[in-house]
Amino acid sequence: MNIVLMGLPGAGKGTQADKIVEKYAIPHISTGDMFRAAISEGTELGVKAKSFMDQGSLVPDEVTIGIVRERLSQADCDEGFLLDGFPRTVPQAEALNELLADLGKKVTYVININVEKEELISRLTGRRICKVCGSSYHLQFDPPKVEGRCDKDDGELYQRADDNPETVTNRLEVNMSQTQPLLDFYEKQGVLKNVDGQKPIDEVFKAVDAILQQDEQ
Ligand code: AP5
Repeated sequence: MNIVLMGLPGAGKGTQADKIVEKYAIPHISTGDMFRAAISEGTELGVKAKSFMDQGSLVPDEVTIGIVRERLSQADCDEGFLLDGFPRTVPQAEALNELLADLGKKVTYVININVEKEELISRLTGRRICKVCGSSYHLQFDPPKVEGRCDKDDGELYQRADDNPETVTNRLEVNMSQTQPLLDFYEKQGVLKNVDGQKPIDEVFKAVDAILQQDEQ
């Protein structure tokens, strides 16, 4: 199963990705996580990505496509993968199709999680992440059992650098302008599935899982 998870910043891609990979045992490939890891390791990729991410802009296509090409060529993707946050532009989607064709694969489903803008802003500004395992929480919607600590490993929770109100506004605008052409691209290919992301996390997962189970049958 080769899945693409789409949705504006804060729609719940990372939250649903954790549940999908737990159930279907496929690798979770998040371009945002890859860039953040490169920034914290101080690599050349991290230096390139940081200035774009800090402003809430997209990292240039050639950089992003390059890291995805390398990652999808690894053996653990042979039985399927979950792409989270890629593609985000039509050129990225075209590059993904070409890359998968070279590997003898194609996208099975594109799951688009729909959430209203006001809700996205409150989800992003209230999000907290575990420094140790990267698990995501929300101060109101998905709070940890102990304030400031991760339920899984007691790691310290922090706020992502791009989750401040100014950067959030720019991220939403940048991504909104790219989304419709990308949805049209996948609609034409007949792989697009829309999910209502305004519902509680477990209900959203039920809807996502119902789509994925069609492929299992
Ligand atoms: P990336 O890390 O991909 O961030 P994003 O797309 O902005 O998405 P987020 O991770 O912020 O949100 P999410 O949808 O995963 O939501 P989450 O599940 O955490 O990208 C960061 C940056 O990297 C980009 O701005 C760009 O610069 C660069 N980049 C990455 N990919 C790129 C690409 N392909 N091309 C170019 N540049 C790229 O949920 C959010 C919060 O809501 C959490 O607190 C969660 O607990 C809560 N929540 C989730 N679901 C629900 C629900 N159903 N109800 C209530 N609360 C919920």
